[in-house]
Amino acid sequence: MKKTRISAPGKLILFGEHAVLYNRPSLVAAMNQRLFFEAEKISENRIIIEAPEMKVSDFSRCLKDLNKEQKKEVKFILTAIKNFFKKYKVETGLKIKTQSQFSAKYGLGSSSAVTVCTIKALAELFEIKIMEKEIFNLAYQTVLDVQGIGSGFDIAAALYGGVIYFLTGGKIIKPLKVKNIPLIVGYTGIKTNTSEIVKKVKGEMQKNFEYYDKLYDGIAQIVEKAKTEIESVNWLEVGKLMNENQEILRRFKAPSLKYGVSSKIIEKLIGACLRSGAYGAKLSGAGVGDCIIALGNNKKKIEWAIKKAGGIPLLVEIDYQGLKIENL
Ligand code: MEV
Repeated sequence: MKKTRISAPGKLILFGEHAVLYNRPSLVAAMNQRLFFEAEKISENRIIIEAPEMKVSDFSRCLKDLNKEQKKEVKFILTAIKNFFKKYKVETGLKIKTQSQFSAKYGLGSSSAVTVCTIKALAELFEIKIMEKEIFNLAYQTVLDVQGIGSGFDIAAALYGGVIYFLTGGKIIKPLKVKNIPLIVGYTGIKTNTSEIVKKVKGEMQKNFEYYDKLYDGIAQIVEKAKTEIESVNWLEVGKLMNENQEILRRFKAPSLKYGVSSKIIEKLIGACLRSGAYGAKLSGAGVGDCIIALGNNKKKIEWAIKKAGGIPLLVEIDYQGLKIENL
């Protein structure tokens, strides 16, 4: 029966995390590690999923049970399917196989990649013409259904690729004309629970609105400057702005967050990068764990420093393709 193969890249946020949840801009990038997604129509009324990187094998769910609570690992795929069926008034059984070039633990956006792939694959299988913005909207709806909160920046990166100026909920999605950002990425070894941190910060913000509003305004100003400096290929200035953004993230207050949304390991990796000549370094994402990013021309030296400090350098580059139909 009809079959399709789609792929989408992972993502990183360069500037503006947390603030982007509250109507501030951010700068995001797609990474050249991709998630591959194969889908085939089947005659049975069920969804079968093989997702080895999520340790999902032989998963099967009847179409009539799509509204029931789903297990975490397949939630994004099943919710995206449910939303697509509802919007386009179609339905089919499916056999799905995913294969990822990156581990889900790095926080590189396997959920957003799998969500946009699911929607594009269904559009292909049903031969429905779907605009990129429609994929974005349906995928963003899926993220909100599953997580309750999220800016959608990860969806934009998976869909459009490249470096993007992004405003909350996709109100602005503007690709930046820039190539060859000397970016270094290091994994802290700790998997961040993004929703948990985001909820914690939100709780603090409700208690101390003015304090957080000022922090977010400060971040928004940095994002605007960073956009200009990136477009002017002024890496020294972009590095300085990374350090400034990191300084604000350290000032987030929450009872159990001693270093703001930073952490001991993040600070250790950032320190190692800066001592090896990086122009700047910061956490990327919700904080506490996941990845740090650094900017510098001596990539090898900085990667080595990350390793020596206890992190894992991830050999990734910026991806300029976004969502893509692959050959079967
Ligand atoms: C997490 O990667 C970045 C946050 O800003 C959340 C989001 O934008 O969805 C904390």
